[in-house]
Amino acid sequence: MNDLSQYAAYLENQIKNLKLDDEPRNLFDPPRYFLSLGGKRMRPILTLISGEIFNIPKEESIHAALCIELFHNFSLIHDDIMDEAPVRRGKPTVHIKWDSKTAILCGDVLFVEAFKQLAKYPDHRFPLLLKRFNETAIEVCQGQQFDMDFESLPDVSESEYIEMIRLKTSVLLGCALELGAILGNQDEEARRNLYGFGVSLGIAFQIQDDILDLYGDPELFGKQVGGDILSNKKTLLFLKAKEIALSTNDSRFDKLVQMQPANDKIEFAKTLFEEIGAKNASQQTMNAYYDQAMENLQQLEQKGLRTDTLRELAKFLLTRKL
Ligand code: IPE
Ligand code: IPE
Ligand code: MG
Ligand code: MG
Ligand code: MG
Repeated sequence: MNDLSQYAAYLENQIKNLKLDDEPRNLFDPPRYFLSLGGKRMRPILTLISGEIFNIPKEESIHAALCIELFHNFSLIHDDIMDEAPVRRGKPTVHIKWDSKTAILCGDVLFVEAFKQLAKYPDHRFPLLLKRFNETAIEVCQGQQFDMDFESLPDVSESEYIEMIRLKTSVLLGCALELGAILGNQDEEARRNLYGFGVSLGIAFQIQDDILDLYGDPELFGKQVGGDILSNKKTLLFLKAKEIALSTNDSRFDKLVQMQPANDKIEFAKTLFEEIGAKNASQQTMNAYYDQAMENLQQLEQKGLRTDTLRELAKFLLTRKL
């Protein structure tokens, strides 16, 4: 395959053909619903591309790719409960369409389905795939807990924020790539190089997610715009705004913190973060991690690996609207 839409179409078809039981309907309809809502599928695309770099056909890497996407969908359903998010991929979240209890179990089913995909690999591959997947899954949970803990902490540093998003988001992109390299029988150094690219890209991706959360086009974004402000998330925008306000004696930041969560708070934050320079500063940090990802790619190229499709995917992600 050579173009991103072909990977996405292949994956969509594979996801459509996943077999889930029928009964009880309230257990299996929600995961079916959620998986049918689409999404960018960028993590499983990373696995397929990584596999292809090492001559692994998509028919072989697909199970690892599906494992990663199923886990990602599980994490989103639970994340939406934790973040009290009403909309995902342009449709009601599972806990809104059904209820939170159903959404918890829906996530559990997808998590188990993820393991079932990995278990399809032969004995000489399975242990390392499972080890790296398990390590990553725990890290995602760590990141998610830090994210929630930070909501009620007054002071979070930028490096604590970066570590939090590395855990909740970036390591999964790294793992998606690494699983392809494991299938390609690559040594630890090669695996780490690809993983490093995924982590840098993932950090840029999550900073961009924070920016889109406030500045995204509500028609295209597919999630509630301003949700991070309502939940008091310590996004990079927020941390940069705090830092700038402190050094310039700008009292508008304190006013923001004291405001009740409501629509006018979102509007206030949007204007403040832009005027104070926090949006611009966050974009610069995002670009620095994107550049780092491009450097990672260059190193991979110097080792003789084909990186054109990864570059194309990275470019696509940085101009995304959803
Ligand atoms: C959303 O991930 C969660 C984050 C880490 C920001 P995506 O933006 O990849 O979500 P989908 O799968 O395309 O819906
Ligand atoms: C989600 O981060 C990361 C995981 C799901 C592990 P966010 O909470 O920012 O993701 P969105 O914005 O809801 O997609
Ligand atoms: Mg969250
Ligand atoms: Mg969320
Ligand atoms: Mg977000």
